[in-house]
Amino acid sequence: MYGVTLLTKQEVIKVTINSLLSTEPVASQIETTILKKGIHMADRNGVEINVKNLTHRYTSKTPLTFDNVDMQAEPGESLVIIGRSGCGKSTLLHIIAGLLGGYNGTVQINNKDVKEASSKWIMMFQAPHLFPWMTVEQNVGTGLRFAGWSKDRIRERVNEAISLVHMEENAKKNTQDLSGGQQQRVALARSLVMEPEMLLLDEPFSALDAFTRASLQKDVRAISKQLGFNIVMVTHDIDEAVIMADRTLIMAGSPGKMMHDLRVDLPDPRNREDKDVRAKRLELMETFNQAAGSLAGGH
Ligand SMILES: Nc1ncnc2c1ncn2[C@@H]1O[C@H](COP(=O)(O)OP(=O)(O)OP(=O)(O)O)[C@@H](O)[C@H]1O
Ligand SMILES: [Mg+2]
Repeated sequence: MYGVTLLTKQEVIKVTINSLLSTEPVASQIETTILKKGIHMADRNGVEINVKNLTHRYTSKTPLTFDNVDMQAEPGESLVIIGRSGCGKSTLLHIIAGLLGGYNGTVQINNKDVKEASSKWIMMFQAPHLFPWMTVEQNVGTGLRFAGWSKDRIRERVNEAISLVHMEENAKKNTQDLSGGQQQRVALARSLVMEPEMLLLDEPFSALDAFTRASLQKDVRAISKQLGFNIVMVTHDIDEAVIMADRTLIMAGSPGKMMHDLRVDLPDPRNREDKDVRAKRLELMETFNQAAGSLAGGH
């Protein structure tokens, strides 16, 4: 199902031992080994996103939500959108996910117009929306049961997703007995079983404590790179943007506009104490303040 499972146990052990003897990161060695086996990472799960001249308003009586928004992403890329409250970030996510229409402009995934939602494009919100009376395993397998999968196939894929989010020890527990961070991990595993091409995250960690948030940020980014899917994430937290993004998009104003597109070219794993991470955070903060200031001055 997933990238690493394309390798045998011996191959993974070999890659891990090689990594101890080399300066090349483990993830890139796994990638190289998968490529040598003839499986192309980019072909596996990601999508190309193309948004052009997107303009939206909720009703004829309401002002524009945003105006002439452009946005592109390569397969497997992680985009993080930051912007002040009300500039249209959640609306933009809903449109990209095919959950909201009534706009002008083009929204294409893999060069096809987005006309409806897809089970491969999954939204995650601040609240995990689990079934509290079900176990972790049952929650994670819900989508596959609806899709009519056999019990054995469900068990195999559910176990795989649960181990990706490091929840093996809680697999038999009811989700109401878990912490908020653990519940978000279950929601993530429930998304992963559907083999997403694109994960759309609307401030998913903002209700969590700092430690839990930091470990989920790292894990979600690592899993997206391991499995090759895109991330489109909205946040108010500039640290989170630097930890999670390949590129950050800064929105500002009302109606919202795309003001800046900043690449975050930092090696993984990223820690907020790292010098380069702190420097990037500062750059992003300055750009963000300038963007907000330039629009405020223009009105
Ligand atoms: N269903 C709706 N009907 C009418 N107007 C709406 C609706 N949903 C949102 N809006 C308005 O559209 C604008 C953008 O809302 P949106 O939720 O996309 O902003 P946001 O950038 O996600 O804000 P926040 O950071 O507070 O979550 C706001 O002015 C909001 O009041
Ligand atoms: Mg929002």
